[in-house]
Amino acid sequence: MIVDINFSNKASNDYKIFINELENISINTKVAIITNPKVAGLHLSTLLSCIKAKELYIITVPDGEEYKNQKSIDDMLDNLFNHKFDRSSTLIALGGGVIGDMTGFLASIYQRGINFIQIPTTLLSQVDASVGGKTGINNSYGKNLVGAFYQPKAVYIETSFLKTLPLREFGAGVAEIVKMAVTFDKEFFRFLTNNSLHRDKNLEKAIELSVKTKAKVVELDEKENGIRAVLNYGHTFAHVIEHETNFKTYLHGEAVGIGIVMANTLSQKLGLLNQSEATQIKELLESYDIPTTYKIKDIDSFYNDFFLDKKTRSDSITFILPKGIGGYEIKKDIDKEVVLDTLREFV
Ligand code: NAD
Ligand code: GLY
Repeated sequence: MIVDINFSNKASNDYKIFINELENISINTKVAIITNPKVAGLHLSTLLSCIKAKELYIITVPDGEEYKNQKSIDDMLDNLFNHKFDRSSTLIALGGGVIGDMTGFLASIYQRGINFIQIPTTLLSQVDASVGGKTGINNSYGKNLVGAFYQPKAVYIETSFLKTLPLREFGAGVAEIVKMAVTFDKEFFRFLTNNSLHRDKNLEKAIELSVKTKAKVVELDEKENGIRAVLNYGHTFAHVIEHETNFKTYLHGEAVGIGIVMANTLSQKLGLLNQSEATQIKELLESYDIPTTYKIKDIDSFYNDFFLDKKTRSDSITFILPKGIGGYEIKKDIDKEVVLDTLREFV
């Protein structure tokens, strides 16, 4: 299966997203595979058996979000310069969103930009992070604050890589799948409620539908000036939860699960979603053990933390809300009392 992503303005390159087509990749340049020790131990040999390159190097970065930083980028830059990579060389990201985001950013700045390929190995990165060209690193001011929109030359999604993924990481990816179905595609949501993603065939279908949805959104709005913001459904709340829990209690996708339920409560208060729809979404998340409850300790402090988000202008918060299942509204300037009323349901 191949999904195309085509940009009308041609400032960015079009590319293909290959699903279960990782057979023979032949690259006539110097290549560096960027990965971490865990993913290398599990899946590097499979990749190496499929790939031919002029010269091939493996660069590993320690595993973890805490290594998604400038120091790792500097170390990798040194490595590329020492091995005399040039503007024709290619980087391959083999790993989850952390490796994908860092490799993309590295590719965007090395000698003003070289080619890179995404080979995502977590469900979250297969359905979301590897597609669309958001690349970057974290710094002391926050997450993903340094980076670039920089599209890969291709994405290879291999669903068999997910066999080794821990269940919690799987659930975190499912939350991002649910996000896309609820906001863009009622039929997709129905498919999810009737078919277990623990069956290979269903999982492959859900990945395909998610990637097609994401590709369409990114084609329309590469730099997030409009519809791409809908992919942040659940995230306005999730970012506050992650911040309040010091990024330690929940995986990002798990915080998004809770955020989706909070956004739905707000949506219900505005008459955009009914109780039965909200219940169906919550039950779907819970069927993958994705957390859906959270205890807010201090409502005012939770509300103020909305303004820490890089996408929140100082005077207004943007909420992405489902409008029924399969629709959305981008809402700015919701009355503060309605938002506080929503938060009061989570104390
Ligand atoms: P991750 O990259 O940290 O991977 C999670 C864990 O799973 C890691 O320990 C990793 O080593 C391990 N792992 C990876 N593949 C595995 C496999 N096949 N089997 C077993 N273990 C495996 O986390 P993630 O959830 O993939 O990505 C989160 C990151 O993605 C965050 O940094 C977030 O900011 C970023 N992100 C980016 C975008 C985007 O559009 N660029 C979108 C969403 C999230
Ligand atoms: N993960 C949201 C986006 O790519 O825009």
